[in-house]
Amino acid sequence: MEQTQEKERVVICPGSFDPITNGHQDIIRRASTLFDRVIVLVSANVAKTPIFSIDERVALIETVCQGMENVQVDKFNGLLIDYVKESGAVAIVKGLRAVSDFDYEFQMALTNRKLMPSAETVFLTPSNDNMYLASSVVRQIAQLGGDIRPFVPSCIVETVVRRMREKF
Ligand code: PNS
Repeated sequence: MEQTQEKERVVICPGSFDPITNGHQDIIRRASTLFDRVIVLVSANVAKTPIFSIDERVALIETVCQGMENVQVDKFNGLLIDYVKESGAVAIVKGLRAVSDFDYEFQMALTNRKLMPSAETVFLTPSNDNMYLASSVVRQIAQLGGDIRPFVPSCIVETVVRRMREKF
C-alpha cells in the first residue's frame, strides 16, 4: 500500500478552566484519543472574572493531564482564532453539555468561523455524570466548605480547597 505523509492533526481545547473539572478532563481525554495532539488553552473570557490566576489554572490542568502524552497546556490572552492560526490547529474542540450550552457555543463557533472561514469547531459530549458539571458550581461548593471530591480530579482537590480558603 502506498504510504502518504500525513500532517499532524492538532486541536485546541480552549476555556476558562476556573478550575478544571472532571467534565473538562473528560473532554480533553476524548479529544486526545481522536487527534494527534491537543493543546489545552487557558483563554480570557471577557464576561468572567476568574478566581484562579491564569498560571494557577495552567498548573492545575498540567497536574490533571499528566500521563496524557499528546496533551500540552498553554495560555493566551488574545483572540482564540489568532492562536488557532499561529498553531496550525485543524479545529477547536469544545464540550457540549446540556441544551443550555447550545446557543452560547453555537454563537462562538459561528463567530470564530466568520473571523476565520477555515476554523472548524468540533463538539464532544461528556459522560452522563459530567453533563451538568460547571466550574462555577465547584467554586461555590468549595467557597461554602462543601465536598468537591465528586467534581474535580482527585490530584487537585487539596490544592483547589487550599487556594479557595486563602482567597475567601
Ligand atoms: O470556558 P469558557 O469560559 O466557556 O470559554 C470561553 C472561551 C475562553 C473559549 C472564549 O471566551 C474565548 O474564546 N476567549 C478568547 C477571546 C476570543 O476569541 N473571543 C471571541 C470568541 S467568539
